[in-house]
Amino acid sequence: MTSPQSPFTERGGPIQVFYTPLDAKRRPMISHAEGIYMWDTAGKRYLDATSGPVVSNIGHGNAKVLAAMAEQAGKVCYASRALFENEANIALAERVATLAGPGFERVFVVSGGSEATEAAIKLARQHAVAKGEASRWKVLARNPGYHGATLGAAAITGDPETDAVFEPVMRIMPRVPAPFTYRTPGNIDADTHARDCAQALEQAILEEGPESVLAFILEPVGGLATGALVAPDHYYTAVREICTRHGILLIFDEVMSGAGRTGRFLAAEHWPDARPDMVTLAKGVAAGYTPLGMVLTSREMVQTVVDAGGFLHGHTYSANPLSCAVGEAVLREGMEQDLIGNAERMGVLLGERLQALAETSPIVGDVRGLGLLRAIEIVADKTTKTAFPPSRKSIARIVELGLEKGLLLYSRSTAGGRYGEWLMITPPLILTEPQLDEMIALLTEVLAAFAAEALA
Ligand SMILES: Cc1ncc(COP(=O)(O)O)c(C=O)c1O
Repeated sequence: MTSPQSPFTERGGPIQVFYTPLDAKRRPMISHAEGIYMWDTAGKRYLDATSGPVVSNIGHGNAKVLAAMAEQAGKVCYASRALFENEANIALAERVATLAGPGFERVFVVSGGSEATEAAIKLARQHAVAKGEASRWKVLARNPGYHGATLGAAAITGDPETDAVFEPVMRIMPRVPAPFTYRTPGNIDADTHARDCAQALEQAILEEGPESVLAFILEPVGGLATGALVAPDHYYTAVREICTRHGILLIFDEVMSGAGRTGRFLAAEHWPDARPDMVTLAKGVAAGYTPLGMVLTSREMVQTVVDAGGFLHGHTYSANPLSCAVGEAVLREGMEQDLIGNAERMGVLLGERLQALAETSPIVGDVRGLGLLRAIEIVADKTTKTAFPPSRKSIARIVELGLEKGLLLYSRSTAGGRYGEWLMITPPLILTEPQLDEMIALLTEVLAAFAAEALA
């Protein structure tokens, strides 16, 4: 029974679902969605400025994807991988491998980002064992970073708050600093700090013992943990060179940055001389039409594992026909509408508009990102880069003001805000210029409302 004070009784009856609400308030009830807009059951319209948690790349209600979904459902929704191959899985893998290019000829399909992280770690480990390098098992990661909510993924997710709670039930992996560009130690310039961070990676490898290190995983363009962090180009080159020199696999977590969001199918394409050995994708690959994730790697790597007896991994829903057909239709639609090109074009405009906003707003300290994967850092004082005190719960309040004004935002404070606080600005890749203007106008209004109450 819910207590009389429980927020869950507000609409006149208990509900049994539980999530992690940002606060005790009920959210609006979703009714329907179309393109970049969503409506609640009271008829209020919202502009989706972040594609949910950076998912809805092709927008909502795409007729071709819905038709493909119905067509596949009419044929078969589920068939066990152990007993059948399925055409949708083969078509999806072929499309992804073609889009991803050389080095990514093999695709293992799962149901989301965390599962993709788990699969990548297990495949990397099995590959090392198959090659006679069983001493390699440590997966180095960046602090902060995010690779998922399951325990294996949490062990490489650089979040001190998660570590503190779950440490006894997982094996926390070594972390190296993320190359932040706005807040740097002692305010040193971003270039020097990025060099120091690459050096810290090498140092960590040497301290751990290179023969014990399996892989280094990073988000090439940061997600929520770093607020669309993009390091200076030389950082990626250095990281690739260090991994290669020590025989360590480089894994790019492109769960958020992949599938066209940065104006390339893979964000990795921005740094051709730092090509990773493995890539994970999720979110935008099925754009929220179905749960989907995947690991991409080379023909050689998979062959080594297959020759040693096969990949010791899989879930009931791995490669399920319905999700694969939907993912294939989403990516086909992205190609037909040139959404990767649109992400690049609109991304340039978005960067300019956010920069202009930062010049006039007293609380926007930094603008970062690539393509339509952008973030703005919220500060109380732009000269000193001082953040608002945690007690103000600024990000949660801004998200709430957005809801009030019909703008959907998405963020949370990484590690209680110790690295700073930011808002992701990651609209669907179908965004048009008039919609971009509408989004910026709403965002300006929301930030002004917050500044008025916070700086009063
Ligand atoms: C970079 C990154 N990796 C992994 C994940 C985990 O994905 P999922 O929530 O689909 O399990 C996320 C989710 O936000 C992410 O942003």
